[in-house]
Amino acid sequence: MTMQHAEHPEGLRDHIADVLTRSRARTGVLTDGIDEAELVAQHSRLMSPLVWDLAHIGNQEELWLVRDVGGREPVRADIDQLYDAFKHARANRPTLPLLDPTQARGYVATVREKVWDVLARTPFEGSSLTKGGFAFGMIAQHEQQHDETMLATHQLRTGAPVLSAAAAPTVAAPVTGEVVIAAGEFTMGTSTDPWALDNERPAHRVTVPGFAIDAAPVTNEQYLAFLDDGGYEREELWSERGWAHRKEAGLVAPQFWERDPAGRWWRRVFGVMTPLRPRQPVVHVCWFEAQAYANWAGKRLPTEAEWEKAARFDPNTGVSRRFPWGDREPDTDTANLGQVHLEPAEVGAYPAGVSATGVHQLVGDVWEWTASGFEPYPGFHAFPYREYSEVFFGGDYRVLRGGSFGTDQVACRGTFRNWDHPIRRQIFAGFRLARDLRKGEGE
Ligand code: AVJ
Ligand code: FE
Repeated sequence: MTMQHAEHPEGLRDHIADVLTRSRARTGVLTDGIDEAELVAQHSRLMSPLVWDLAHIGNQEELWLVRDVGGREPVRADIDQLYDAFKHARANRPTLPLLDPTQARGYVATVREKVWDVLARTPFEGSSLTKGGFAFGMIAQHEQQHDETMLATHQLRTGAPVLSAAAAPTVAAPVTGEVVIAAGEFTMGTSTDPWALDNERPAHRVTVPGFAIDAAPVTNEQYLAFLDDGGYEREELWSERGWAHRKEAGLVAPQFWERDPAGRWWRRVFGVMTPLRPRQPVVHVCWFEAQAYANWAGKRLPTEAEWEKAARFDPNTGVSRRFPWGDREPDTDTANLGQVHLEPAEVGAYPAGVSATGVHQLVGDVWEWTASGFEPYPGFHAFPYREYSEVFFGGDYRVLRGGSFGTDQVACRGTFRNWDHPIRRQIFAGFRLARDLRKGEGE
């Protein structure tokens, strides 16, 4: 949301209605075109049945907007524990007495009806939950995050394709090269973005030594050169843990890549076999693969602070922007977000989305693995619940930045932090490289 909404509550109310309507339309796309058996099936032990995500979306909306903000009676207090992500691991969710698809659709619709009434009556002031419409923004982000998770489930499912979209934009020549970011302080995180989540707060000054960062994420073509150079067989390129995982999981290429007898590479994209597109960012690699590639290339992954400085810092003003291109909301010219396309776009396809320092496609296309673990910023306080971020700090997670083609703009900004285990590949994750400066460089 934009800052001016604070002074115009009716504009904010309309904006919230738009954002909630957009997320529900997407939830519909992900759950309507698929038959009942597939909605309740488990397509991967890493994922919930789609019908769990659907009712969980409604349950979180009920908990925060109907009961907490609205002060209304529960709709279905009896199902809270079924849809509590901390009570049941994803692998066990198919065995629970879940709402069936018809019941789940009815439930989310009933909750949403009540939310429209709560929205109409809520002043956007007072408690920190209602100030700036925060709880509504949080719930819209939550639904969109689960929509992205459901999109990953769709990518894992086998069988006839059910999703379709226009091909992502292409380029005449891919963007290459790197950008040098001079040493110095910048503002990381935010204290003012009204819908920023707790882990993005507060804004704080960070000193970042000079570094170089690639102008674009690593492409399929570049990744294939690593693979063809024996990248998956050369233990010295991998960390100890990475190599152990590489062997145990039998990793030989990014997930969903297949080589035909003629040696050509294909990618299964939402059920459609597609020739590997050389100029698209590589996607569905784990952190260990990214790290091995970086070693092979003689570079490294950027730290989270380096990534955010590249994405937000404008050296001309010294100010950190909300997005690489400025403070304007994303649109189809600046970033590949929102499931508009079902694939990342070729590198260089979004010149209007370039950062102040000339870095491309930091937002959209693929989540980018960083070198950093998931830790709180100085002055962090959990809000509104410890289970969003705090319980994950210090765990075996790596931070991902920038959002993917499957991330909605409401759940993506220069400060947004995502995290996952370093072995995970089903998320829409790729990476870009960085390096330290050589002596005398960047002065
Ligand atoms: C921030 C994407 C790691 O999906 O596990 C959804 C978001 N938190 N419901 C996740 C989330 C609670 C979370 N990630
Ligand atoms: Fe959730």
